[in-house]
Amino acid sequence: MVSAELPFSGVRTDIPSPARGYGWMLGGKDNYEADRQFVRQMLKNLPEALDAARENRLFLYRVVRHLAAEAGIRQFIDMGCGLPTDNNVHQVAQRFAPDSRVVYVDIDPIVLAHGRALLADDDSTTVIRADIRQVEEILDHPETKRLIDFDEPVAVLFLSVGHMLPDKDDPRRILQTVIDRIAPGGYIAFTQATSDDPAHRALMNSQLSAYGLTWQTRSPQEVQALLAGLEPVAPGLVDVNDWRPDPDQPPLPPRPRRAEALRRRLQAQQGRLRVRRPAAQARLITGPWQAHGGAGRAKARRRHRRLAERTRWMRFTAPDGRTSPEGG
Ligand SMILES: C[S@@+](CC[C@H](N)C(=O)[O-])C[C@H]1O[C@@H](n2cnc3c(N)ncnc32)[C@H](O)[C@@H]1O
Repeated sequence: MVSAELPFSGVRTDIPSPARGYGWMLGGKDNYEADRQFVRQMLKNLPEALDAARENRLFLYRVVRHLAAEAGIRQFIDMGCGLPTDNNVHQVAQRFAPDSRVVYVDIDPIVLAHGRALLADDDSTTVIRADIRQVEEILDHPETKRLIDFDEPVAVLFLSVGHMLPDKDDPRRILQTVIDRIAPGGYIAFTQATSDDPAHRALMNSQLSAYGLTWQTRSPQEVQALLAGLEPVAPGLVDVNDWRPDPDQPPLPPRPRRAEALRRRLQAQQGRLRVRRPAAQARLITGPWQAHGGAGRAKARRRHRRLAERTRWMRFTAPDGRTSPEGG
């Protein structure tokens, strides 16, 4: 099922789309020369972006598998879902929990067009064209209400999208709105480009802004602050590669040859440069982080206490930061 909330402005193929460019890096076929040109241009300054995109997508598989197969989640909202490719959220979730339901959300009209084709006959999955910054509209959208029961745990994914929500868009408010809505036992999974090096962050921000992207690379500490109050799921906020790596997980489609050749050449050059100028690598870091709290906090605590009896590893983090192993 598909719904268009924002006015459908048509699909331009002559100007780059971040969703199509990202899809190309994952090995997707639904892209145009403007998208490929945009990615090649970006890789000249940020050759690590190719690996980062692909590693993020491999993380997506692992985290959705964990949520469906181990955490018992049956409802997913995928914020900034991107173009469909292999192993999309509903496919991974339904492989491990066939009754899973998924709401896909993206601002790019091309995503809606492709989602429409992929999901036409699937009643357990929908795609909404909407802006994450208007998160209340997403949570209150009729399609969201059709598929998501907010009295039951929900996983909300913000994968490789945090850097597209700069501080001026108040991402903490967006996350808090979601946290307040989802029931105890829900999860937020979050990845975004990070760097420890302020100069590298500034360079990435200016380069990607010059390509027309709204972008903010953050330090790990800044991401930590964005996710304050959530309970990290081990091993917590780490590089995506380090979150429960699985060498046997299904591989992605092959890297696009022209992008890969460019990456190899530029990273070899950078390697030589690094001898003189240590260069920070951009990283994508992640949770998932478990959400507690929000509306009906007393009810939430009672629910949580019941859940905690079943799953002793869970801890309740009170709004003031107190932590209790019993959830009270
Ligand atoms: C890099 S892709 C990530 C795709 C997918 N989440 C993944 O991890 O593979 C980022 C997506 O976020 C979408 N996006 C960026 N800003 C957005 C916003 N404000 N509202 C909704 N979608 C947004 C872009 O259109 C793009 O498809």
